[in-house]
Amino acid sequence: MQVIALVNQKGGVGKTTVALGLASTAWVRELDCLVIDIDPQGNATTGLGIWNPRFSVDHALAEERAGAIKGLRVTSGWPTQRGRLPSVVAATASLAGREPQLMTDPIGANNRLATALNGVSHDIVIIDCPPSLGLLTINGLFAADRALIVTEPGAWASDGVNEILRTVDRISARRSEPLAVAGIAINRLGRTRDARYWHQQLCTNHGDLVLGTIQLRAAVAEAAARSMPIHALGSRPGAAAAATEFDSLFDHIFDPRVGGSNANDSTTDIGKNEVPHDL
Ligand SMILES: Nc1ncnc2c1ncn2[C@@H]1O[C@H](COP(=O)(O)OP(=O)(O)OP(=O)(O)O)[C@@H](O)[C@H]1O
Ligand SMILES: [Mg+2]
Repeated sequence: MQVIALVNQKGGVGKTTVALGLASTAWVRELDCLVIDIDPQGNATTGLGIWNPRFSVDHALAEERAGAIKGLRVTSGWPTQRGRLPSVVAATASLAGREPQLMTDPIGANNRLATALNGVSHDIVIIDCPPSLGLLTINGLFAADRALIVTEPGAWASDGVNEILRTVDRISARRSEPLAVAGIAINRLGRTRDARYWHQQLCTNHGDLVLGTIQLRAAVAEAAARSMPIHALGSRPGAAAAATEFDSLFDHIFDPRVGGSNANDSTTDIGKNEVPHDL
């Protein structure tokens, strides 16, 4: 199982959009993908077609219980008959109150999500983090094998990347297994001179880490807004090109043997949306 957390303390750079794009690639390739939404905004949750979930990641963070994720997964509500629908652990607004509560844990509450993932098996797990480096994101990073930094080619993006790299190093030093950096995904690359300048800055400063670029395209925003996988937007202008970019990014992140094992514990999926897999 390969677990990545999508991070950037800056808001609106496209963490959720990239999470959904990668899940869409997994969907079309019929891989067993779990998306965990740990952002109280719940954008990945609605982008995956889940509304008003009864079960959420908040239940996993509320207590320290190994394998807690197993009872919280629902199947994406993407309106499609093809592919293999991702599993989702949804976020709810109640998550916003969890962070201050976690801070009161005298032993520290960095790894509740990691504990909750114990014994859970999927081909890939994608964790969509909120725009902060608070305890929710820290839980995401403790649960992941690798951090994928998502950024846009905007002002001072390289400084933001440096700050995340330092955070990843500090977390890695506190874990039994190191936390690696999967790389950087540059999202929302537009055609302006400004975008090209900041893109160039990122490539100059962190070129060895840059895995791929996703262009700014209306179809990408539309897919999320319509709770559809980008690969299912058909002939919508830009959709196929965007899907190809997500496929390429996926191939740079995940081991090509992903999905080869077919070993997973979620073969008992029984329905859409509100139905936990394990009931
Ligand atoms: N490649 C793209 N092309 C067009 N629009 C995009 C692209 N990537 C993201 N967007 C749009 O930009 C906005 C912010 O994207 P998104 O919500 O994915 O960012 P985020 O980093 O997850 O934000 P937050 O930090 O609030 O969680 C959304 O409206 C999204 O539809
Ligand atoms: Mg987001």
